[in-house]
Amino acid sequence: MNAQDLNKKKAAEFAAQYIEDGMTVGLGTGSTVAFFLDALAEKKIDFIGVTTSNRTAARGAELGMKIVDVDEVDHIDVTVDGADEVDTYLNGIKGGGAALLMEKIVAKNSNKNIWIVDQSKVKPVLGTFPLPVEVVPYGSGQLARKFEREGLNPTLRLDQAGKTLVTDGGHYILDLHLDGIASPECLSDYLSKEVGVVDHGLFLNTADIVIVGGDKIEVKERK
Ligand code: A5P
Repeated sequence: MNAQDLNKKKAAEFAAQYIEDGMTVGLGTGSTVAFFLDALAEKKIDFIGVTTSNRTAARGAELGMKIVDVDEVDHIDVTVDGADEVDTYLNGIKGGGAALLMEKIVAKNSNKNIWIVDQSKVKPVLGTFPLPVEVVPYGSGQLARKFEREGLNPTLRLDQAGKTLVTDGGHYILDLHLDGIASPECLSDYLSKEVGVVDHGLFLNTADIVIVGGDKIEVKERK
């Protein structure tokens, strides 16, 4: 296992201690969450899982977890998810794994959000990682041209076979290649108002706790 994966695993295993018997737990998506699912399965506690992608739902079921739809629960106690970048305010970019829409829905319906990352993802300013924008397929070419004119450098995300990637929600993703995001709030407002945008990967004021895996575990809490 390489150093980055080892640090992801450390953060994921640390996060498992936040999950208690009887909780309803939001389960994020990605390689860090995969380590978390394994750690959770090893705890052998009784919990209900609400997943954020078909991938996580399938893995959860494989591990014998009780998985229900987000609309079947009246609350989610805590969600544990990964992130692609986290800044000093604990804002982040998510969606590298194309699950941003369901991740945001589950996060917004959670009493507490915990992110698990390796230390390479902590940045002073967001925006080195391309910002995913989930869009309705109809008119997505027009939207891409508009983003291009506005200097947002969009690229249509492709899957491993080189075809247009389609998200679990049936949408496309435009990744914006930005050289740092000076005002995440302004960009978030702008993107949210664009017709055809379903959601975007800026997760602002969402994480309550960020667990950073490195030589030591660092736990950052929203003040
Ligand atoms: C999934 O869409 C993402 O938001 C992931 O949480 C994020 O990309 C982190 O992924 P890794 O844990 O694989 O780095």
